[in-house]
Amino acid sequence: MLRTFGDPVLRQRAAEVEELDGDLARLAETMVATMYEAIGLGLAAPQVGVLKRMYTYDVGDGPAVLVNPQIVDSHGEWTYDEGCLSIPDVHVEIVRPKVVTVQGIDLDGKEVVFEGDELMGRLIQHEIDHLDGVLMLDRLEADQRKAVLREMRRAQFDDAGAARVGARLDAGDNGRRL
Ligand code: NI
Repeated sequence: MLRTFGDPVLRQRAAEVEELDGDLARLAETMVATMYEAIGLGLAAPQVGVLKRMYTYDVGDGPAVLVNPQIVDSHGEWTYDEGCLSIPDVHVEIVRPKVVTVQGIDLDGKEVVFEGDELMGRLIQHEIDHLDGVLMLDRLEADQRKAVLREMRRAQFDDAGAARVGARLDAGDNGRRL
């Protein structure tokens, strides 16, 4: 089940994966299915309540898994209207490095290193943030974060609020959530 904003599991640091076993492979399968069902591009294990350093993704080249990912290099700056499967109906413009190099292992323990530009770079940074208990709202300036949280609270108690959040925040493509 997809964990959403307010769930304490999203605020904890996930542990390094020590063993690449059948359980981990099954977890990866479950995560890919959950990610597709929710129409997301990426999903980190804490988003399904598992505190392991792993995420799944698919930006159009088929599903893939990265275990114990680490950013080893980054440069540039890129603004993107970010969405998160754990924060429904909210999209916020966030500036982050444009290009990152990520290092990790696949489910067979083989080392993987690659560079992600723009959307892929953003996905890597967003998912690794999840593994550290960091949510995209934490990347906003304090004033902007307060405004977004206020709108989110309003939307919970008031049907019209959802529309307001939509109008103000949901400018992004719903199929591009991370
Ligand atoms: Ni997310």
